[in-house]
Amino acid sequence: VTGPRTSEQRRRRPPRRPRNDLRQYDDLADHWWRPDGAFAALHWLAQARGRYVPPPSRDDAVLVDLACGAGLMAPHVDGYRHVGVDLNHAALRQAAEHGLEPIRGDITRLPLPDAVADVVVAGEIFEHVADLEAAVSETARILKPGGTVVVDTIADNLLARIVVVHVQERLPGGPPPRIHDPAYFVSPRRLRALFDGHGVTLRTQGLKVHPIDYLRFLRDRSRPVRMLTARASLTLYQGIGAKRSSRTAAIAAEAPDEIEDA
Ligand SMILES: C[S@@+](CC[C@H](N)C(=O)[O-])C[C@H]1O[C@@H](n2cnc3c(N)ncnc32)[C@H](O)[C@@H]1O
Repeated sequence: VTGPRTSEQRRRRPPRRPRNDLRQYDDLADHWWRPDGAFAALHWLAQARGRYVPPPSRDDAVLVDLACGAGLMAPHVDGYRHVGVDLNHAALRQAAEHGLEPIRGDITRLPLPDAVADVVVAGEIFEHVADLEAAVSETARILKPGGTVVVDTIADNLLARIVVVHVQERLPGGPPPRIHDPAYFVSPRRLRALFDGHGVTLRTQGLKVHPIDYLRFLRDRSRPVRMLTARASLTLYQGIGAKRSSRTAAIAAEAPDEIEDA
């Protein structure tokens, strides 16, 4: 429960960084697992992502969590070998404490072999990388044919810039100030096309907070907020997909329009 800020908390206010500066994750390292902390909404999104993670199909099924942060997906991926890749040491240490196998690496150049993952999740990361095509290509490369991918990110449009950057950064449960650079926001159409080009059929849907849960969160900051799906991907959205087998991919290459419309 948050109360008035103490002088100690004021002294420890994070420094002002440029937008999308990786040092922010060090400044906020002790917030990851706090339900009322700067990353509160990442807990809500992890739960929403977890809904689309299928039950593991075998004992040693692998789920790779790209830009895993402190491993907030851990409560939602029971039964998987949960491998987390991130650049941030402090986050990876916490991820390991929550059962992830931590790997320090860049998601645009993954230190992992081809087709290693039954499931790949990539939460709140595509809007942070300069080379989106490399990130998508690497996601698809490490996924087994038939494997599932679950992602969420922020749409590239004027509404998202206003809402996510200018409004939500000032609201409790919103993203930490200056964590996003809207220049990297990603349109759902572009994301679907990039995945399609790498053999993954992706569908997208909008995400929004449950209004009653959010009002409760504003009141006492103690309970998580459920995320609801929406038809339109106006600001925050989710992508759920499957990697086509090489035979389906070959057909797709011959008739891309038919596959895209399916
Ligand atoms: C907004 S957080 C999301 C964390 C986690 N996916 C979640 O939803 O809880 C972004 C994370 O991406 C990591 N990150 C940023 N750029 C990265 C890159 N190129 N490769 C790997 N990790 C990266 C940061 O260190 C941070 O932990």
